[in-house]
Amino acid sequence: MVTNLLRKHFLTDDDWSKQELDTVFEAAFDLKKKFAMREPHRLLQDKTLFSIFFEQSTRTRNSMEAGMTQLGGHAHDLTADKMQISHGEAPKDTAIILSRMGHGIACRNCFYGEGKKYLDEMAKNATVPVMSLQDDVYHPFQGLADLMTIFEHFDKNPKGLKVTVSWAYADTHSKPLSVPQTQILLFPRYGLDVTVAHPKEFPLSKNIVEKAYKNAEAGGGSLKFTNDMDEAFEGAQIVIPKNWGGFGFYDVDYYLQNENACKEEMKSNLEKYHSWICDEKRIKLADKNVKLMHALPADRGHEVTDEVLDNPDISIVFDEAENRLHTAKAIMALTM
Ligand code: CP
Repeated sequence: MVTNLLRKHFLTDDDWSKQELDTVFEAAFDLKKKFAMREPHRLLQDKTLFSIFFEQSTRTRNSMEAGMTQLGGHAHDLTADKMQISHGEAPKDTAIILSRMGHGIACRNCFYGEGKKYLDEMAKNATVPVMSLQDDVYHPFQGLADLMTIFEHFDKNPKGLKVTVSWAYADTHSKPLSVPQTQILLFPRYGLDVTVAHPKEFPLSKNIVEKAYKNAEAGGGSLKFTNDMDEAFEGAQIVIPKNWGGFGFYDVDYYLQNENACKEEMKSNLEKYHSWICDEKRIKLADKNVKLMHALPADRGHEVTDEVLDNPDISIVFDEAENRLHTAKAIMALTM
């Protein structure tokens, strides 16, 4: 167990060693047990977290805020429009000022080509830990909750487990790349065999894929890609069908210079792939004990059918969502 994580930033799981992540899981399981037993665990009494959201959130916002309350502290639920951020105040200044007033800064900024840079700038200037609540590249808290759920439903040593991360159709909004990117970086470090399926116009970022291959080699897992959703489902023990936008199809600078044209092209590409859905037919291709995971919110009837999502023998999405609370509390208790 690692005991010196005070003030360590949590911007990506990739910045944390395996030993450090194991410590987080140990703490998360302990906090989950205390929560179930209604045992007080006021480890952050009188401490303040500033939680800044540039986008909407249900799970992340409430896991951080409820988590801080349960740990005996308080989280300010902030949005960019409530702050001088909306008048252009620099992330550096925001980070310095909030560091003088509290004990942790958490932020979600998913704007493509901007979010991760914004968080890095805050982390460079903050004297308290900065946590990513999701950016355009990573969603580190989601990765922790996913892995905790896998440990619970399969094994604490899940080496060789076959996980399929598949793009799926959705018409709600262009979801960030950060969830699948976090999963392909993290899962192979724990020995999981990951298959990623996506239409050719919806790739993940090249640099992340390269890093994920390296993580797989070092961690004993594996990573492979296909453009065929059925093939990816064959024999899978976990399936994660989820939409993401076609951002990875473009160089970041090109995207930022031609944003409207890229968005139009992404929209027309999307319409070609209505058939990319996780339904009972595809579930039958997978292992007989397959489990469905999804970071949520799910686009019901597009990404996944109600029949699959609501099947208690298959779906573990609500355990996954609950584990956002326990893993968030572990990170906050260890770093703040
Ligand atoms: N999975 C997830 O991050 O959900 P929210 O967008 O509701 O926070």
